[in-house]
Amino acid sequence: MSDDFKMVAKTFYGFESILADELLSLGARNIEEGVRNVSFYGDLGFLYKVNLALSTSVRVLKPITSFKITDEKDLYSSIYNFNWEDYLDVDDTFAIESNLNTDFFSHSLFVSQRVKDALVDRFRKLFKKRPNVDRDDPDFKINCHITDDVCTISLDSSGKPLNQRGYRSETNIAPINEVLAAGIVKLSGWDCESDFLDPMCGSGTLLIEAAMYAKNYPVNVNRKHFSFQNWKDWDSDLFELIKASTLKKVKPFNYKITGYDKAPSAILKCNQNIINAGFTDIIEVSQDNFFTTTKNNENFLQIVFNPPYGERLQIDIESFYKQIGDTLKSNYTNSNAWFITSSLEALKYVGLRPSRKIKLFNGKLESRLAKYEIYSGTKKIHKLTKK
Ligand SMILES: C[S@@+](CC[C@H](N)C(=O)[O-])C[C@H]1O[C@@H](n2cnc3c(N)ncnc32)[C@H](O)[C@@H]1O
Repeated sequence: MSDDFKMVAKTFYGFESILADELLSLGARNIEEGVRNVSFYGDLGFLYKVNLALSTSVRVLKPITSFKITDEKDLYSSIYNFNWEDYLDVDDTFAIESNLNTDFFSHSLFVSQRVKDALVDRFRKLFKKRPNVDRDDPDFKINCHITDDVCTISLDSSGKPLNQRGYRSETNIAPINEVLAAGIVKLSGWDCESDFLDPMCGSGTLLIEAAMYAKNYPVNVNRKHFSFQNWKDWDSDLFELIKASTLKKVKPFNYKITGYDKAPSAILKCNQNIINAGFTDIIEVSQDNFFTTTKNNENFLQIVFNPPYGERLQIDIESFYKQIGDTLKSNYTNSNAWFITSSLEALKYVGLRPSRKIKLFNGKLESRLAKYEIYSGTKKIHKLTKK
């Protein structure tokens, strides 16, 4: 496997092991979990495959050089001496992002600036012309990561973050990030052998990510663009081949995915997103107040949702979360209910004991993904186990 190279998939806090599982099932080699990232090896086709299919990664980096540095002069000369012209042309645009975990440098913007200067100076010397910076939509996104005295330079193969799947044309007031939604569905342990409900579905992100998971659908197959399409080794035939092979692995799904939202505008947007994603056959949504709904059969139901938490959507936390608990308890026997909330206080009002709590971040907000197992007698058992 001499064509294999190292890649690093970036993710959110708490998703490292589910990302590693996804990589394993796609066929990655030498998988190593880091903090908010997982590294692995594969070839160019595999780089295309992971960008198309990974649901829990925000971007995939390809390290291209690494060197030791302890000061600005080392940084400048190492970047200046690197053969950038093997990757970029003078007419390409670029942007640098730096992440620091070192005592040798303290300002990431300063580091990015010096990397830019050295790269540009090299092009000027060689070609009397320089590539330009484009912060919004560069042809090349270059990542500079310094840990202690080791600087690693990577190309970002994804470009725009991988949560931008291309199906969400309509967003609600507080949509959840698609990668966060995909990770939550996976962490919920849903085996895709039951119906699935998001009772507060908003723009439908959890529903669509659940559908993609259940069908083994390559989440980014409808994206318009990846950064690797600007690279010198871009191979469109190979890309089409990989795309077709990931689509061949799509599975049938024989259960129902349902969404409710009490806001008519949310349902309109949600329906549009479901059409965009192509899942009108398995996802059904209706305008309903969750607190007046009831589970419509005896079978086991997986419930995953993202209720308002009072930050962006104003609610009375105490009575709202109490109603969530009451509704689950009385109307949703034989279900596992998971929800994520950034209001740690809210969990106190649910009135049920969570069987699991997982720390996650919704953007910058520390959150909990809580699991409630609702079976007949939940009330009694809850009381018995309460200390
Ligand atoms: C945080 S948003 C959900 C965002 C959604 N996950 C997305 O990606 O767009 C919460 C949603 O709960 C809905 N909601 C609030 N109370 C509700 C209730 N009692 N029944 C159903 N939906 C409700 C709101 O209208 C809002 O769309």
